[in-house]
This record gives sequence, structure tokens and C-alpha cells, in this order.
Amino acid sequence: IRFIDQMDLDGKRLLIRVDYNVPIKDGVIGDDNRIRASLPTLEYALNNGASLILCSHLGKPKGQIKPELSLAPVAVRLGELLGRPVKMAPDCVGDEVRSMAKALAPGEVLMLENLRFHAEEQSGDEAFGRELAALCDVYCNDAFGTAHRAHASMTGIPAFAPARCAGFLLKKEWEFLGEALAAPKRPYVAISGGSKVSSKLGILNNLLGKVDALIIGGAMANTFLLAQGHGVGASLVEPDLVEEARTVMKTAKERGVDLVLPLDFVIGEGPDAAKSAGVVDAEAGVPEGLMALDVGPKTVERYRQALSGAKTVVWNGPVGAFENPAFAEGSLELAKIIAGLDALTIGGGGDTGACLALAGLADAVTFISTGGGSFMEFMEGKELPAFKALEE
Ligand code: 3PG
Repeated sequence: IRFIDQMDLDGKRLLIRVDYNVPIKDGVIGDDNRIRASLPTLEYALNNGASLILCSHLGKPKGQIKPELSLAPVAVRLGELLGRPVKMAPDCVGDEVRSMAKALAPGEVLMLENLRFHAEEQSGDEAFGRELAALCDVYCNDAFGTAHRAHASMTGIPAFAPARCAGFLLKKEWEFLGEALAAPKRPYVAISGGSKVSSKLGILNNLLGKVDALIIGGAMANTFLLAQGHGVGASLVEPDLVEEARTVMKTAKERGVDLVLPLDFVIGEGPDAAKSAGVVDAEAGVPEGLMALDVGPKTVERYRQALSGAKTVVWNGPVGAFENPAFAEGSLELAKIIAGLDALTIGGGGDTGACLALAGLADAVTFISTGGGSFMEFMEGKELPAFKALEE
């Protein structure tokens, strides 16, 4: 792989694939960390005489134009951070975009509209990748958060662009995570939480071959609760993954991995409820009509025990609906336990970063990755499509 500082950028049109999939509500960006994380690459390229064309996805519009998923607010925020104007394109392909890209002078920045407004992005369509590649002289991938997706902008553009390289964010994540996880100091504990579920169960099975303890919280824990035969009430749950959850429990036992499932839950009417409806033991189950929204105090103590003495900890995903103070305690306590360890501690994913920031502990962990799913797949030891595409 070649990195951006090994490329001649003077007078070149550089197409950078960034991951600006940031939380936006009513046009307001909730957390701009991913935008900030891209600045070293952008500033380096601008200082070296390039003009920039930036592309990213935002959310899951599934090939439809969804105005609420426009990247326009991101272009505005980026302009503020860069201290120079960022032009917004009406689309990511087509004649108008082509002329806007062509008209760019060195030092100018153009943000293309959401790649996923075209279904061709996620299907990895060749013609779509070719059309995007034709906008530039050099392609640069700096989207670590999307590195596990074999989409057109990740694998198609580099195949057709005149030259390709990796940006500083991709490099930093790759080097840091690669080094930290190649021969992790033990005990090695992984924590998997968050609200995205199905994409992660397979990952857990692979992780069992690497870690000494695996802590499961968040929405995924509910599927395990169901697999144990306990009531889940109205909690987010995936009944079709119960078998897979059972396999995880069985494999953990066979391998002697300490699998830590919640012992108790804070329950409530929903993630936005003004207050909780109390705590229930996992064995008693979640009552009808209520949801498991955080882990309870017994679980936090169990976490403390599982993490005590750990030398490597990777954490992906809060263990409850932490944005609501009523359901934040489990995740905030977990953040404190992790921050207090004498260990290499790595957080991954936007929500984990936001949770550490809320606890005032963002600087107390060793490293925060911009990747969520990509970070988990990297940890599994998989070769990520983005890196493979840059090698070829
Ligand atoms: C992420 O936020 O994990 C990345 O931007 C990838 O997004 P996706 O899960 O919608 O592909």
C-alpha cells in the first residue's frame, strides 16, 4: 500500500473517500469526530497543491434520494474546520458534477452528495466506480469506518483510478490496531454492546478464539436473554439469531472463555422514557410491554470482576441507551472501570467515543478508533476490502 505522503499531489485532482457517516438530527451534527479525524489528510493534500473532491455515504438511504441524508450540513461543518469554503455538489455522478470537478483549482474543495443515493454504491457496480474514478488523477481512501464494506467507492474506484493511496487516518488506525492486537497482552477482554445487532453475532464467534473474556451488553444481550429462555418483554431482540447466540454460549464454554452476560437490567417504556421503571434480574425476565434499556448494578459488579487485572481491553458499543440519563449508568460505570485499568484500552465506534466523552474519559483510554463494524472485523483478523483494494 502506498500512503498519501508518497504521492505527487501538485496540481492533481485528489478524490478522497472519507467516512462522514456522522449522527445528524434536524440538520445538526451530533458528533463531528469523524470529520475532525479526516483533517490531517485533507490539510496535507491542500498544502501540497492538490484540489480535493470528497465522497462519503451517510446513513442507509438504499438508493433513494433522502433530503435528510444530504451531506450538505457536513460540507458546512468541514468548511468551518478547514477555514476555507467547501462547495457542495448536487449529486456524486453526472455531467454537472463532472464540470464542477473539472473546474477545481488547487486549494479548492468539493463535497459530493451522498454516494448511497445511488444503489450502485452498495452493489459495488463497476460502471459507477469507473465514473467516479474518472473525476480524479489520484484516489485516496481515508474511510477507516467503512473499510469492511466492499462498495463501489471502496473497491471500484481504486481499480479504475490512475493512481491510489491510503490517507493518514487509514494508516494510523491500521498501524495502531495492527500492532496492539497482533500479540495482545493477556488477559485480553472484549466488550460488545451497541444497538446494531445482527452484523455482530458472527464476529463474536470468531473473537472467542482470541480473547480470555467476552462481555456482552446492549441490544445484543437481549437475544442471549431469549436464548437462555428468559422473558424479554418489548426489548429489541432478534429471534432468528437465538440459535447463533446458543452457539456463542456453547463455544465459549468449550474454549474456556469467560462469557459475561447481564445479570440484571434497568427497564423502561422506551429509550426516550423520562425515567426508568426499575431493575429486574435477568432470570426474572423483562415484564411484558417494557424494554431492557441498560444493565443493572449486579452486572456492573460482574463487569468489574471480569475486567480486573486485564491487560488489553477492546470496547465496541455502549451497554445501554446511554444518550438518556435514565439509562446511562451502566455504560458510564463501564467507561470508568476501563479508564481505571492499567492496560492497553481501545474504544471503537462513534457511540463508544461519545459515551467516553460523556463520562469525561475520552483521554483516559489508549486509543479511540473511528471504526465500529470495521474495527470489530479488523479485531477478528479479517482482511478488510478497503486495504485489499489498495494493494492491487
Ligand atoms: C459505520 O458507521 O459503521 C460506517 O460508516 C459504515 O456504515 P454502515 O454500517 O451503514 O455500512
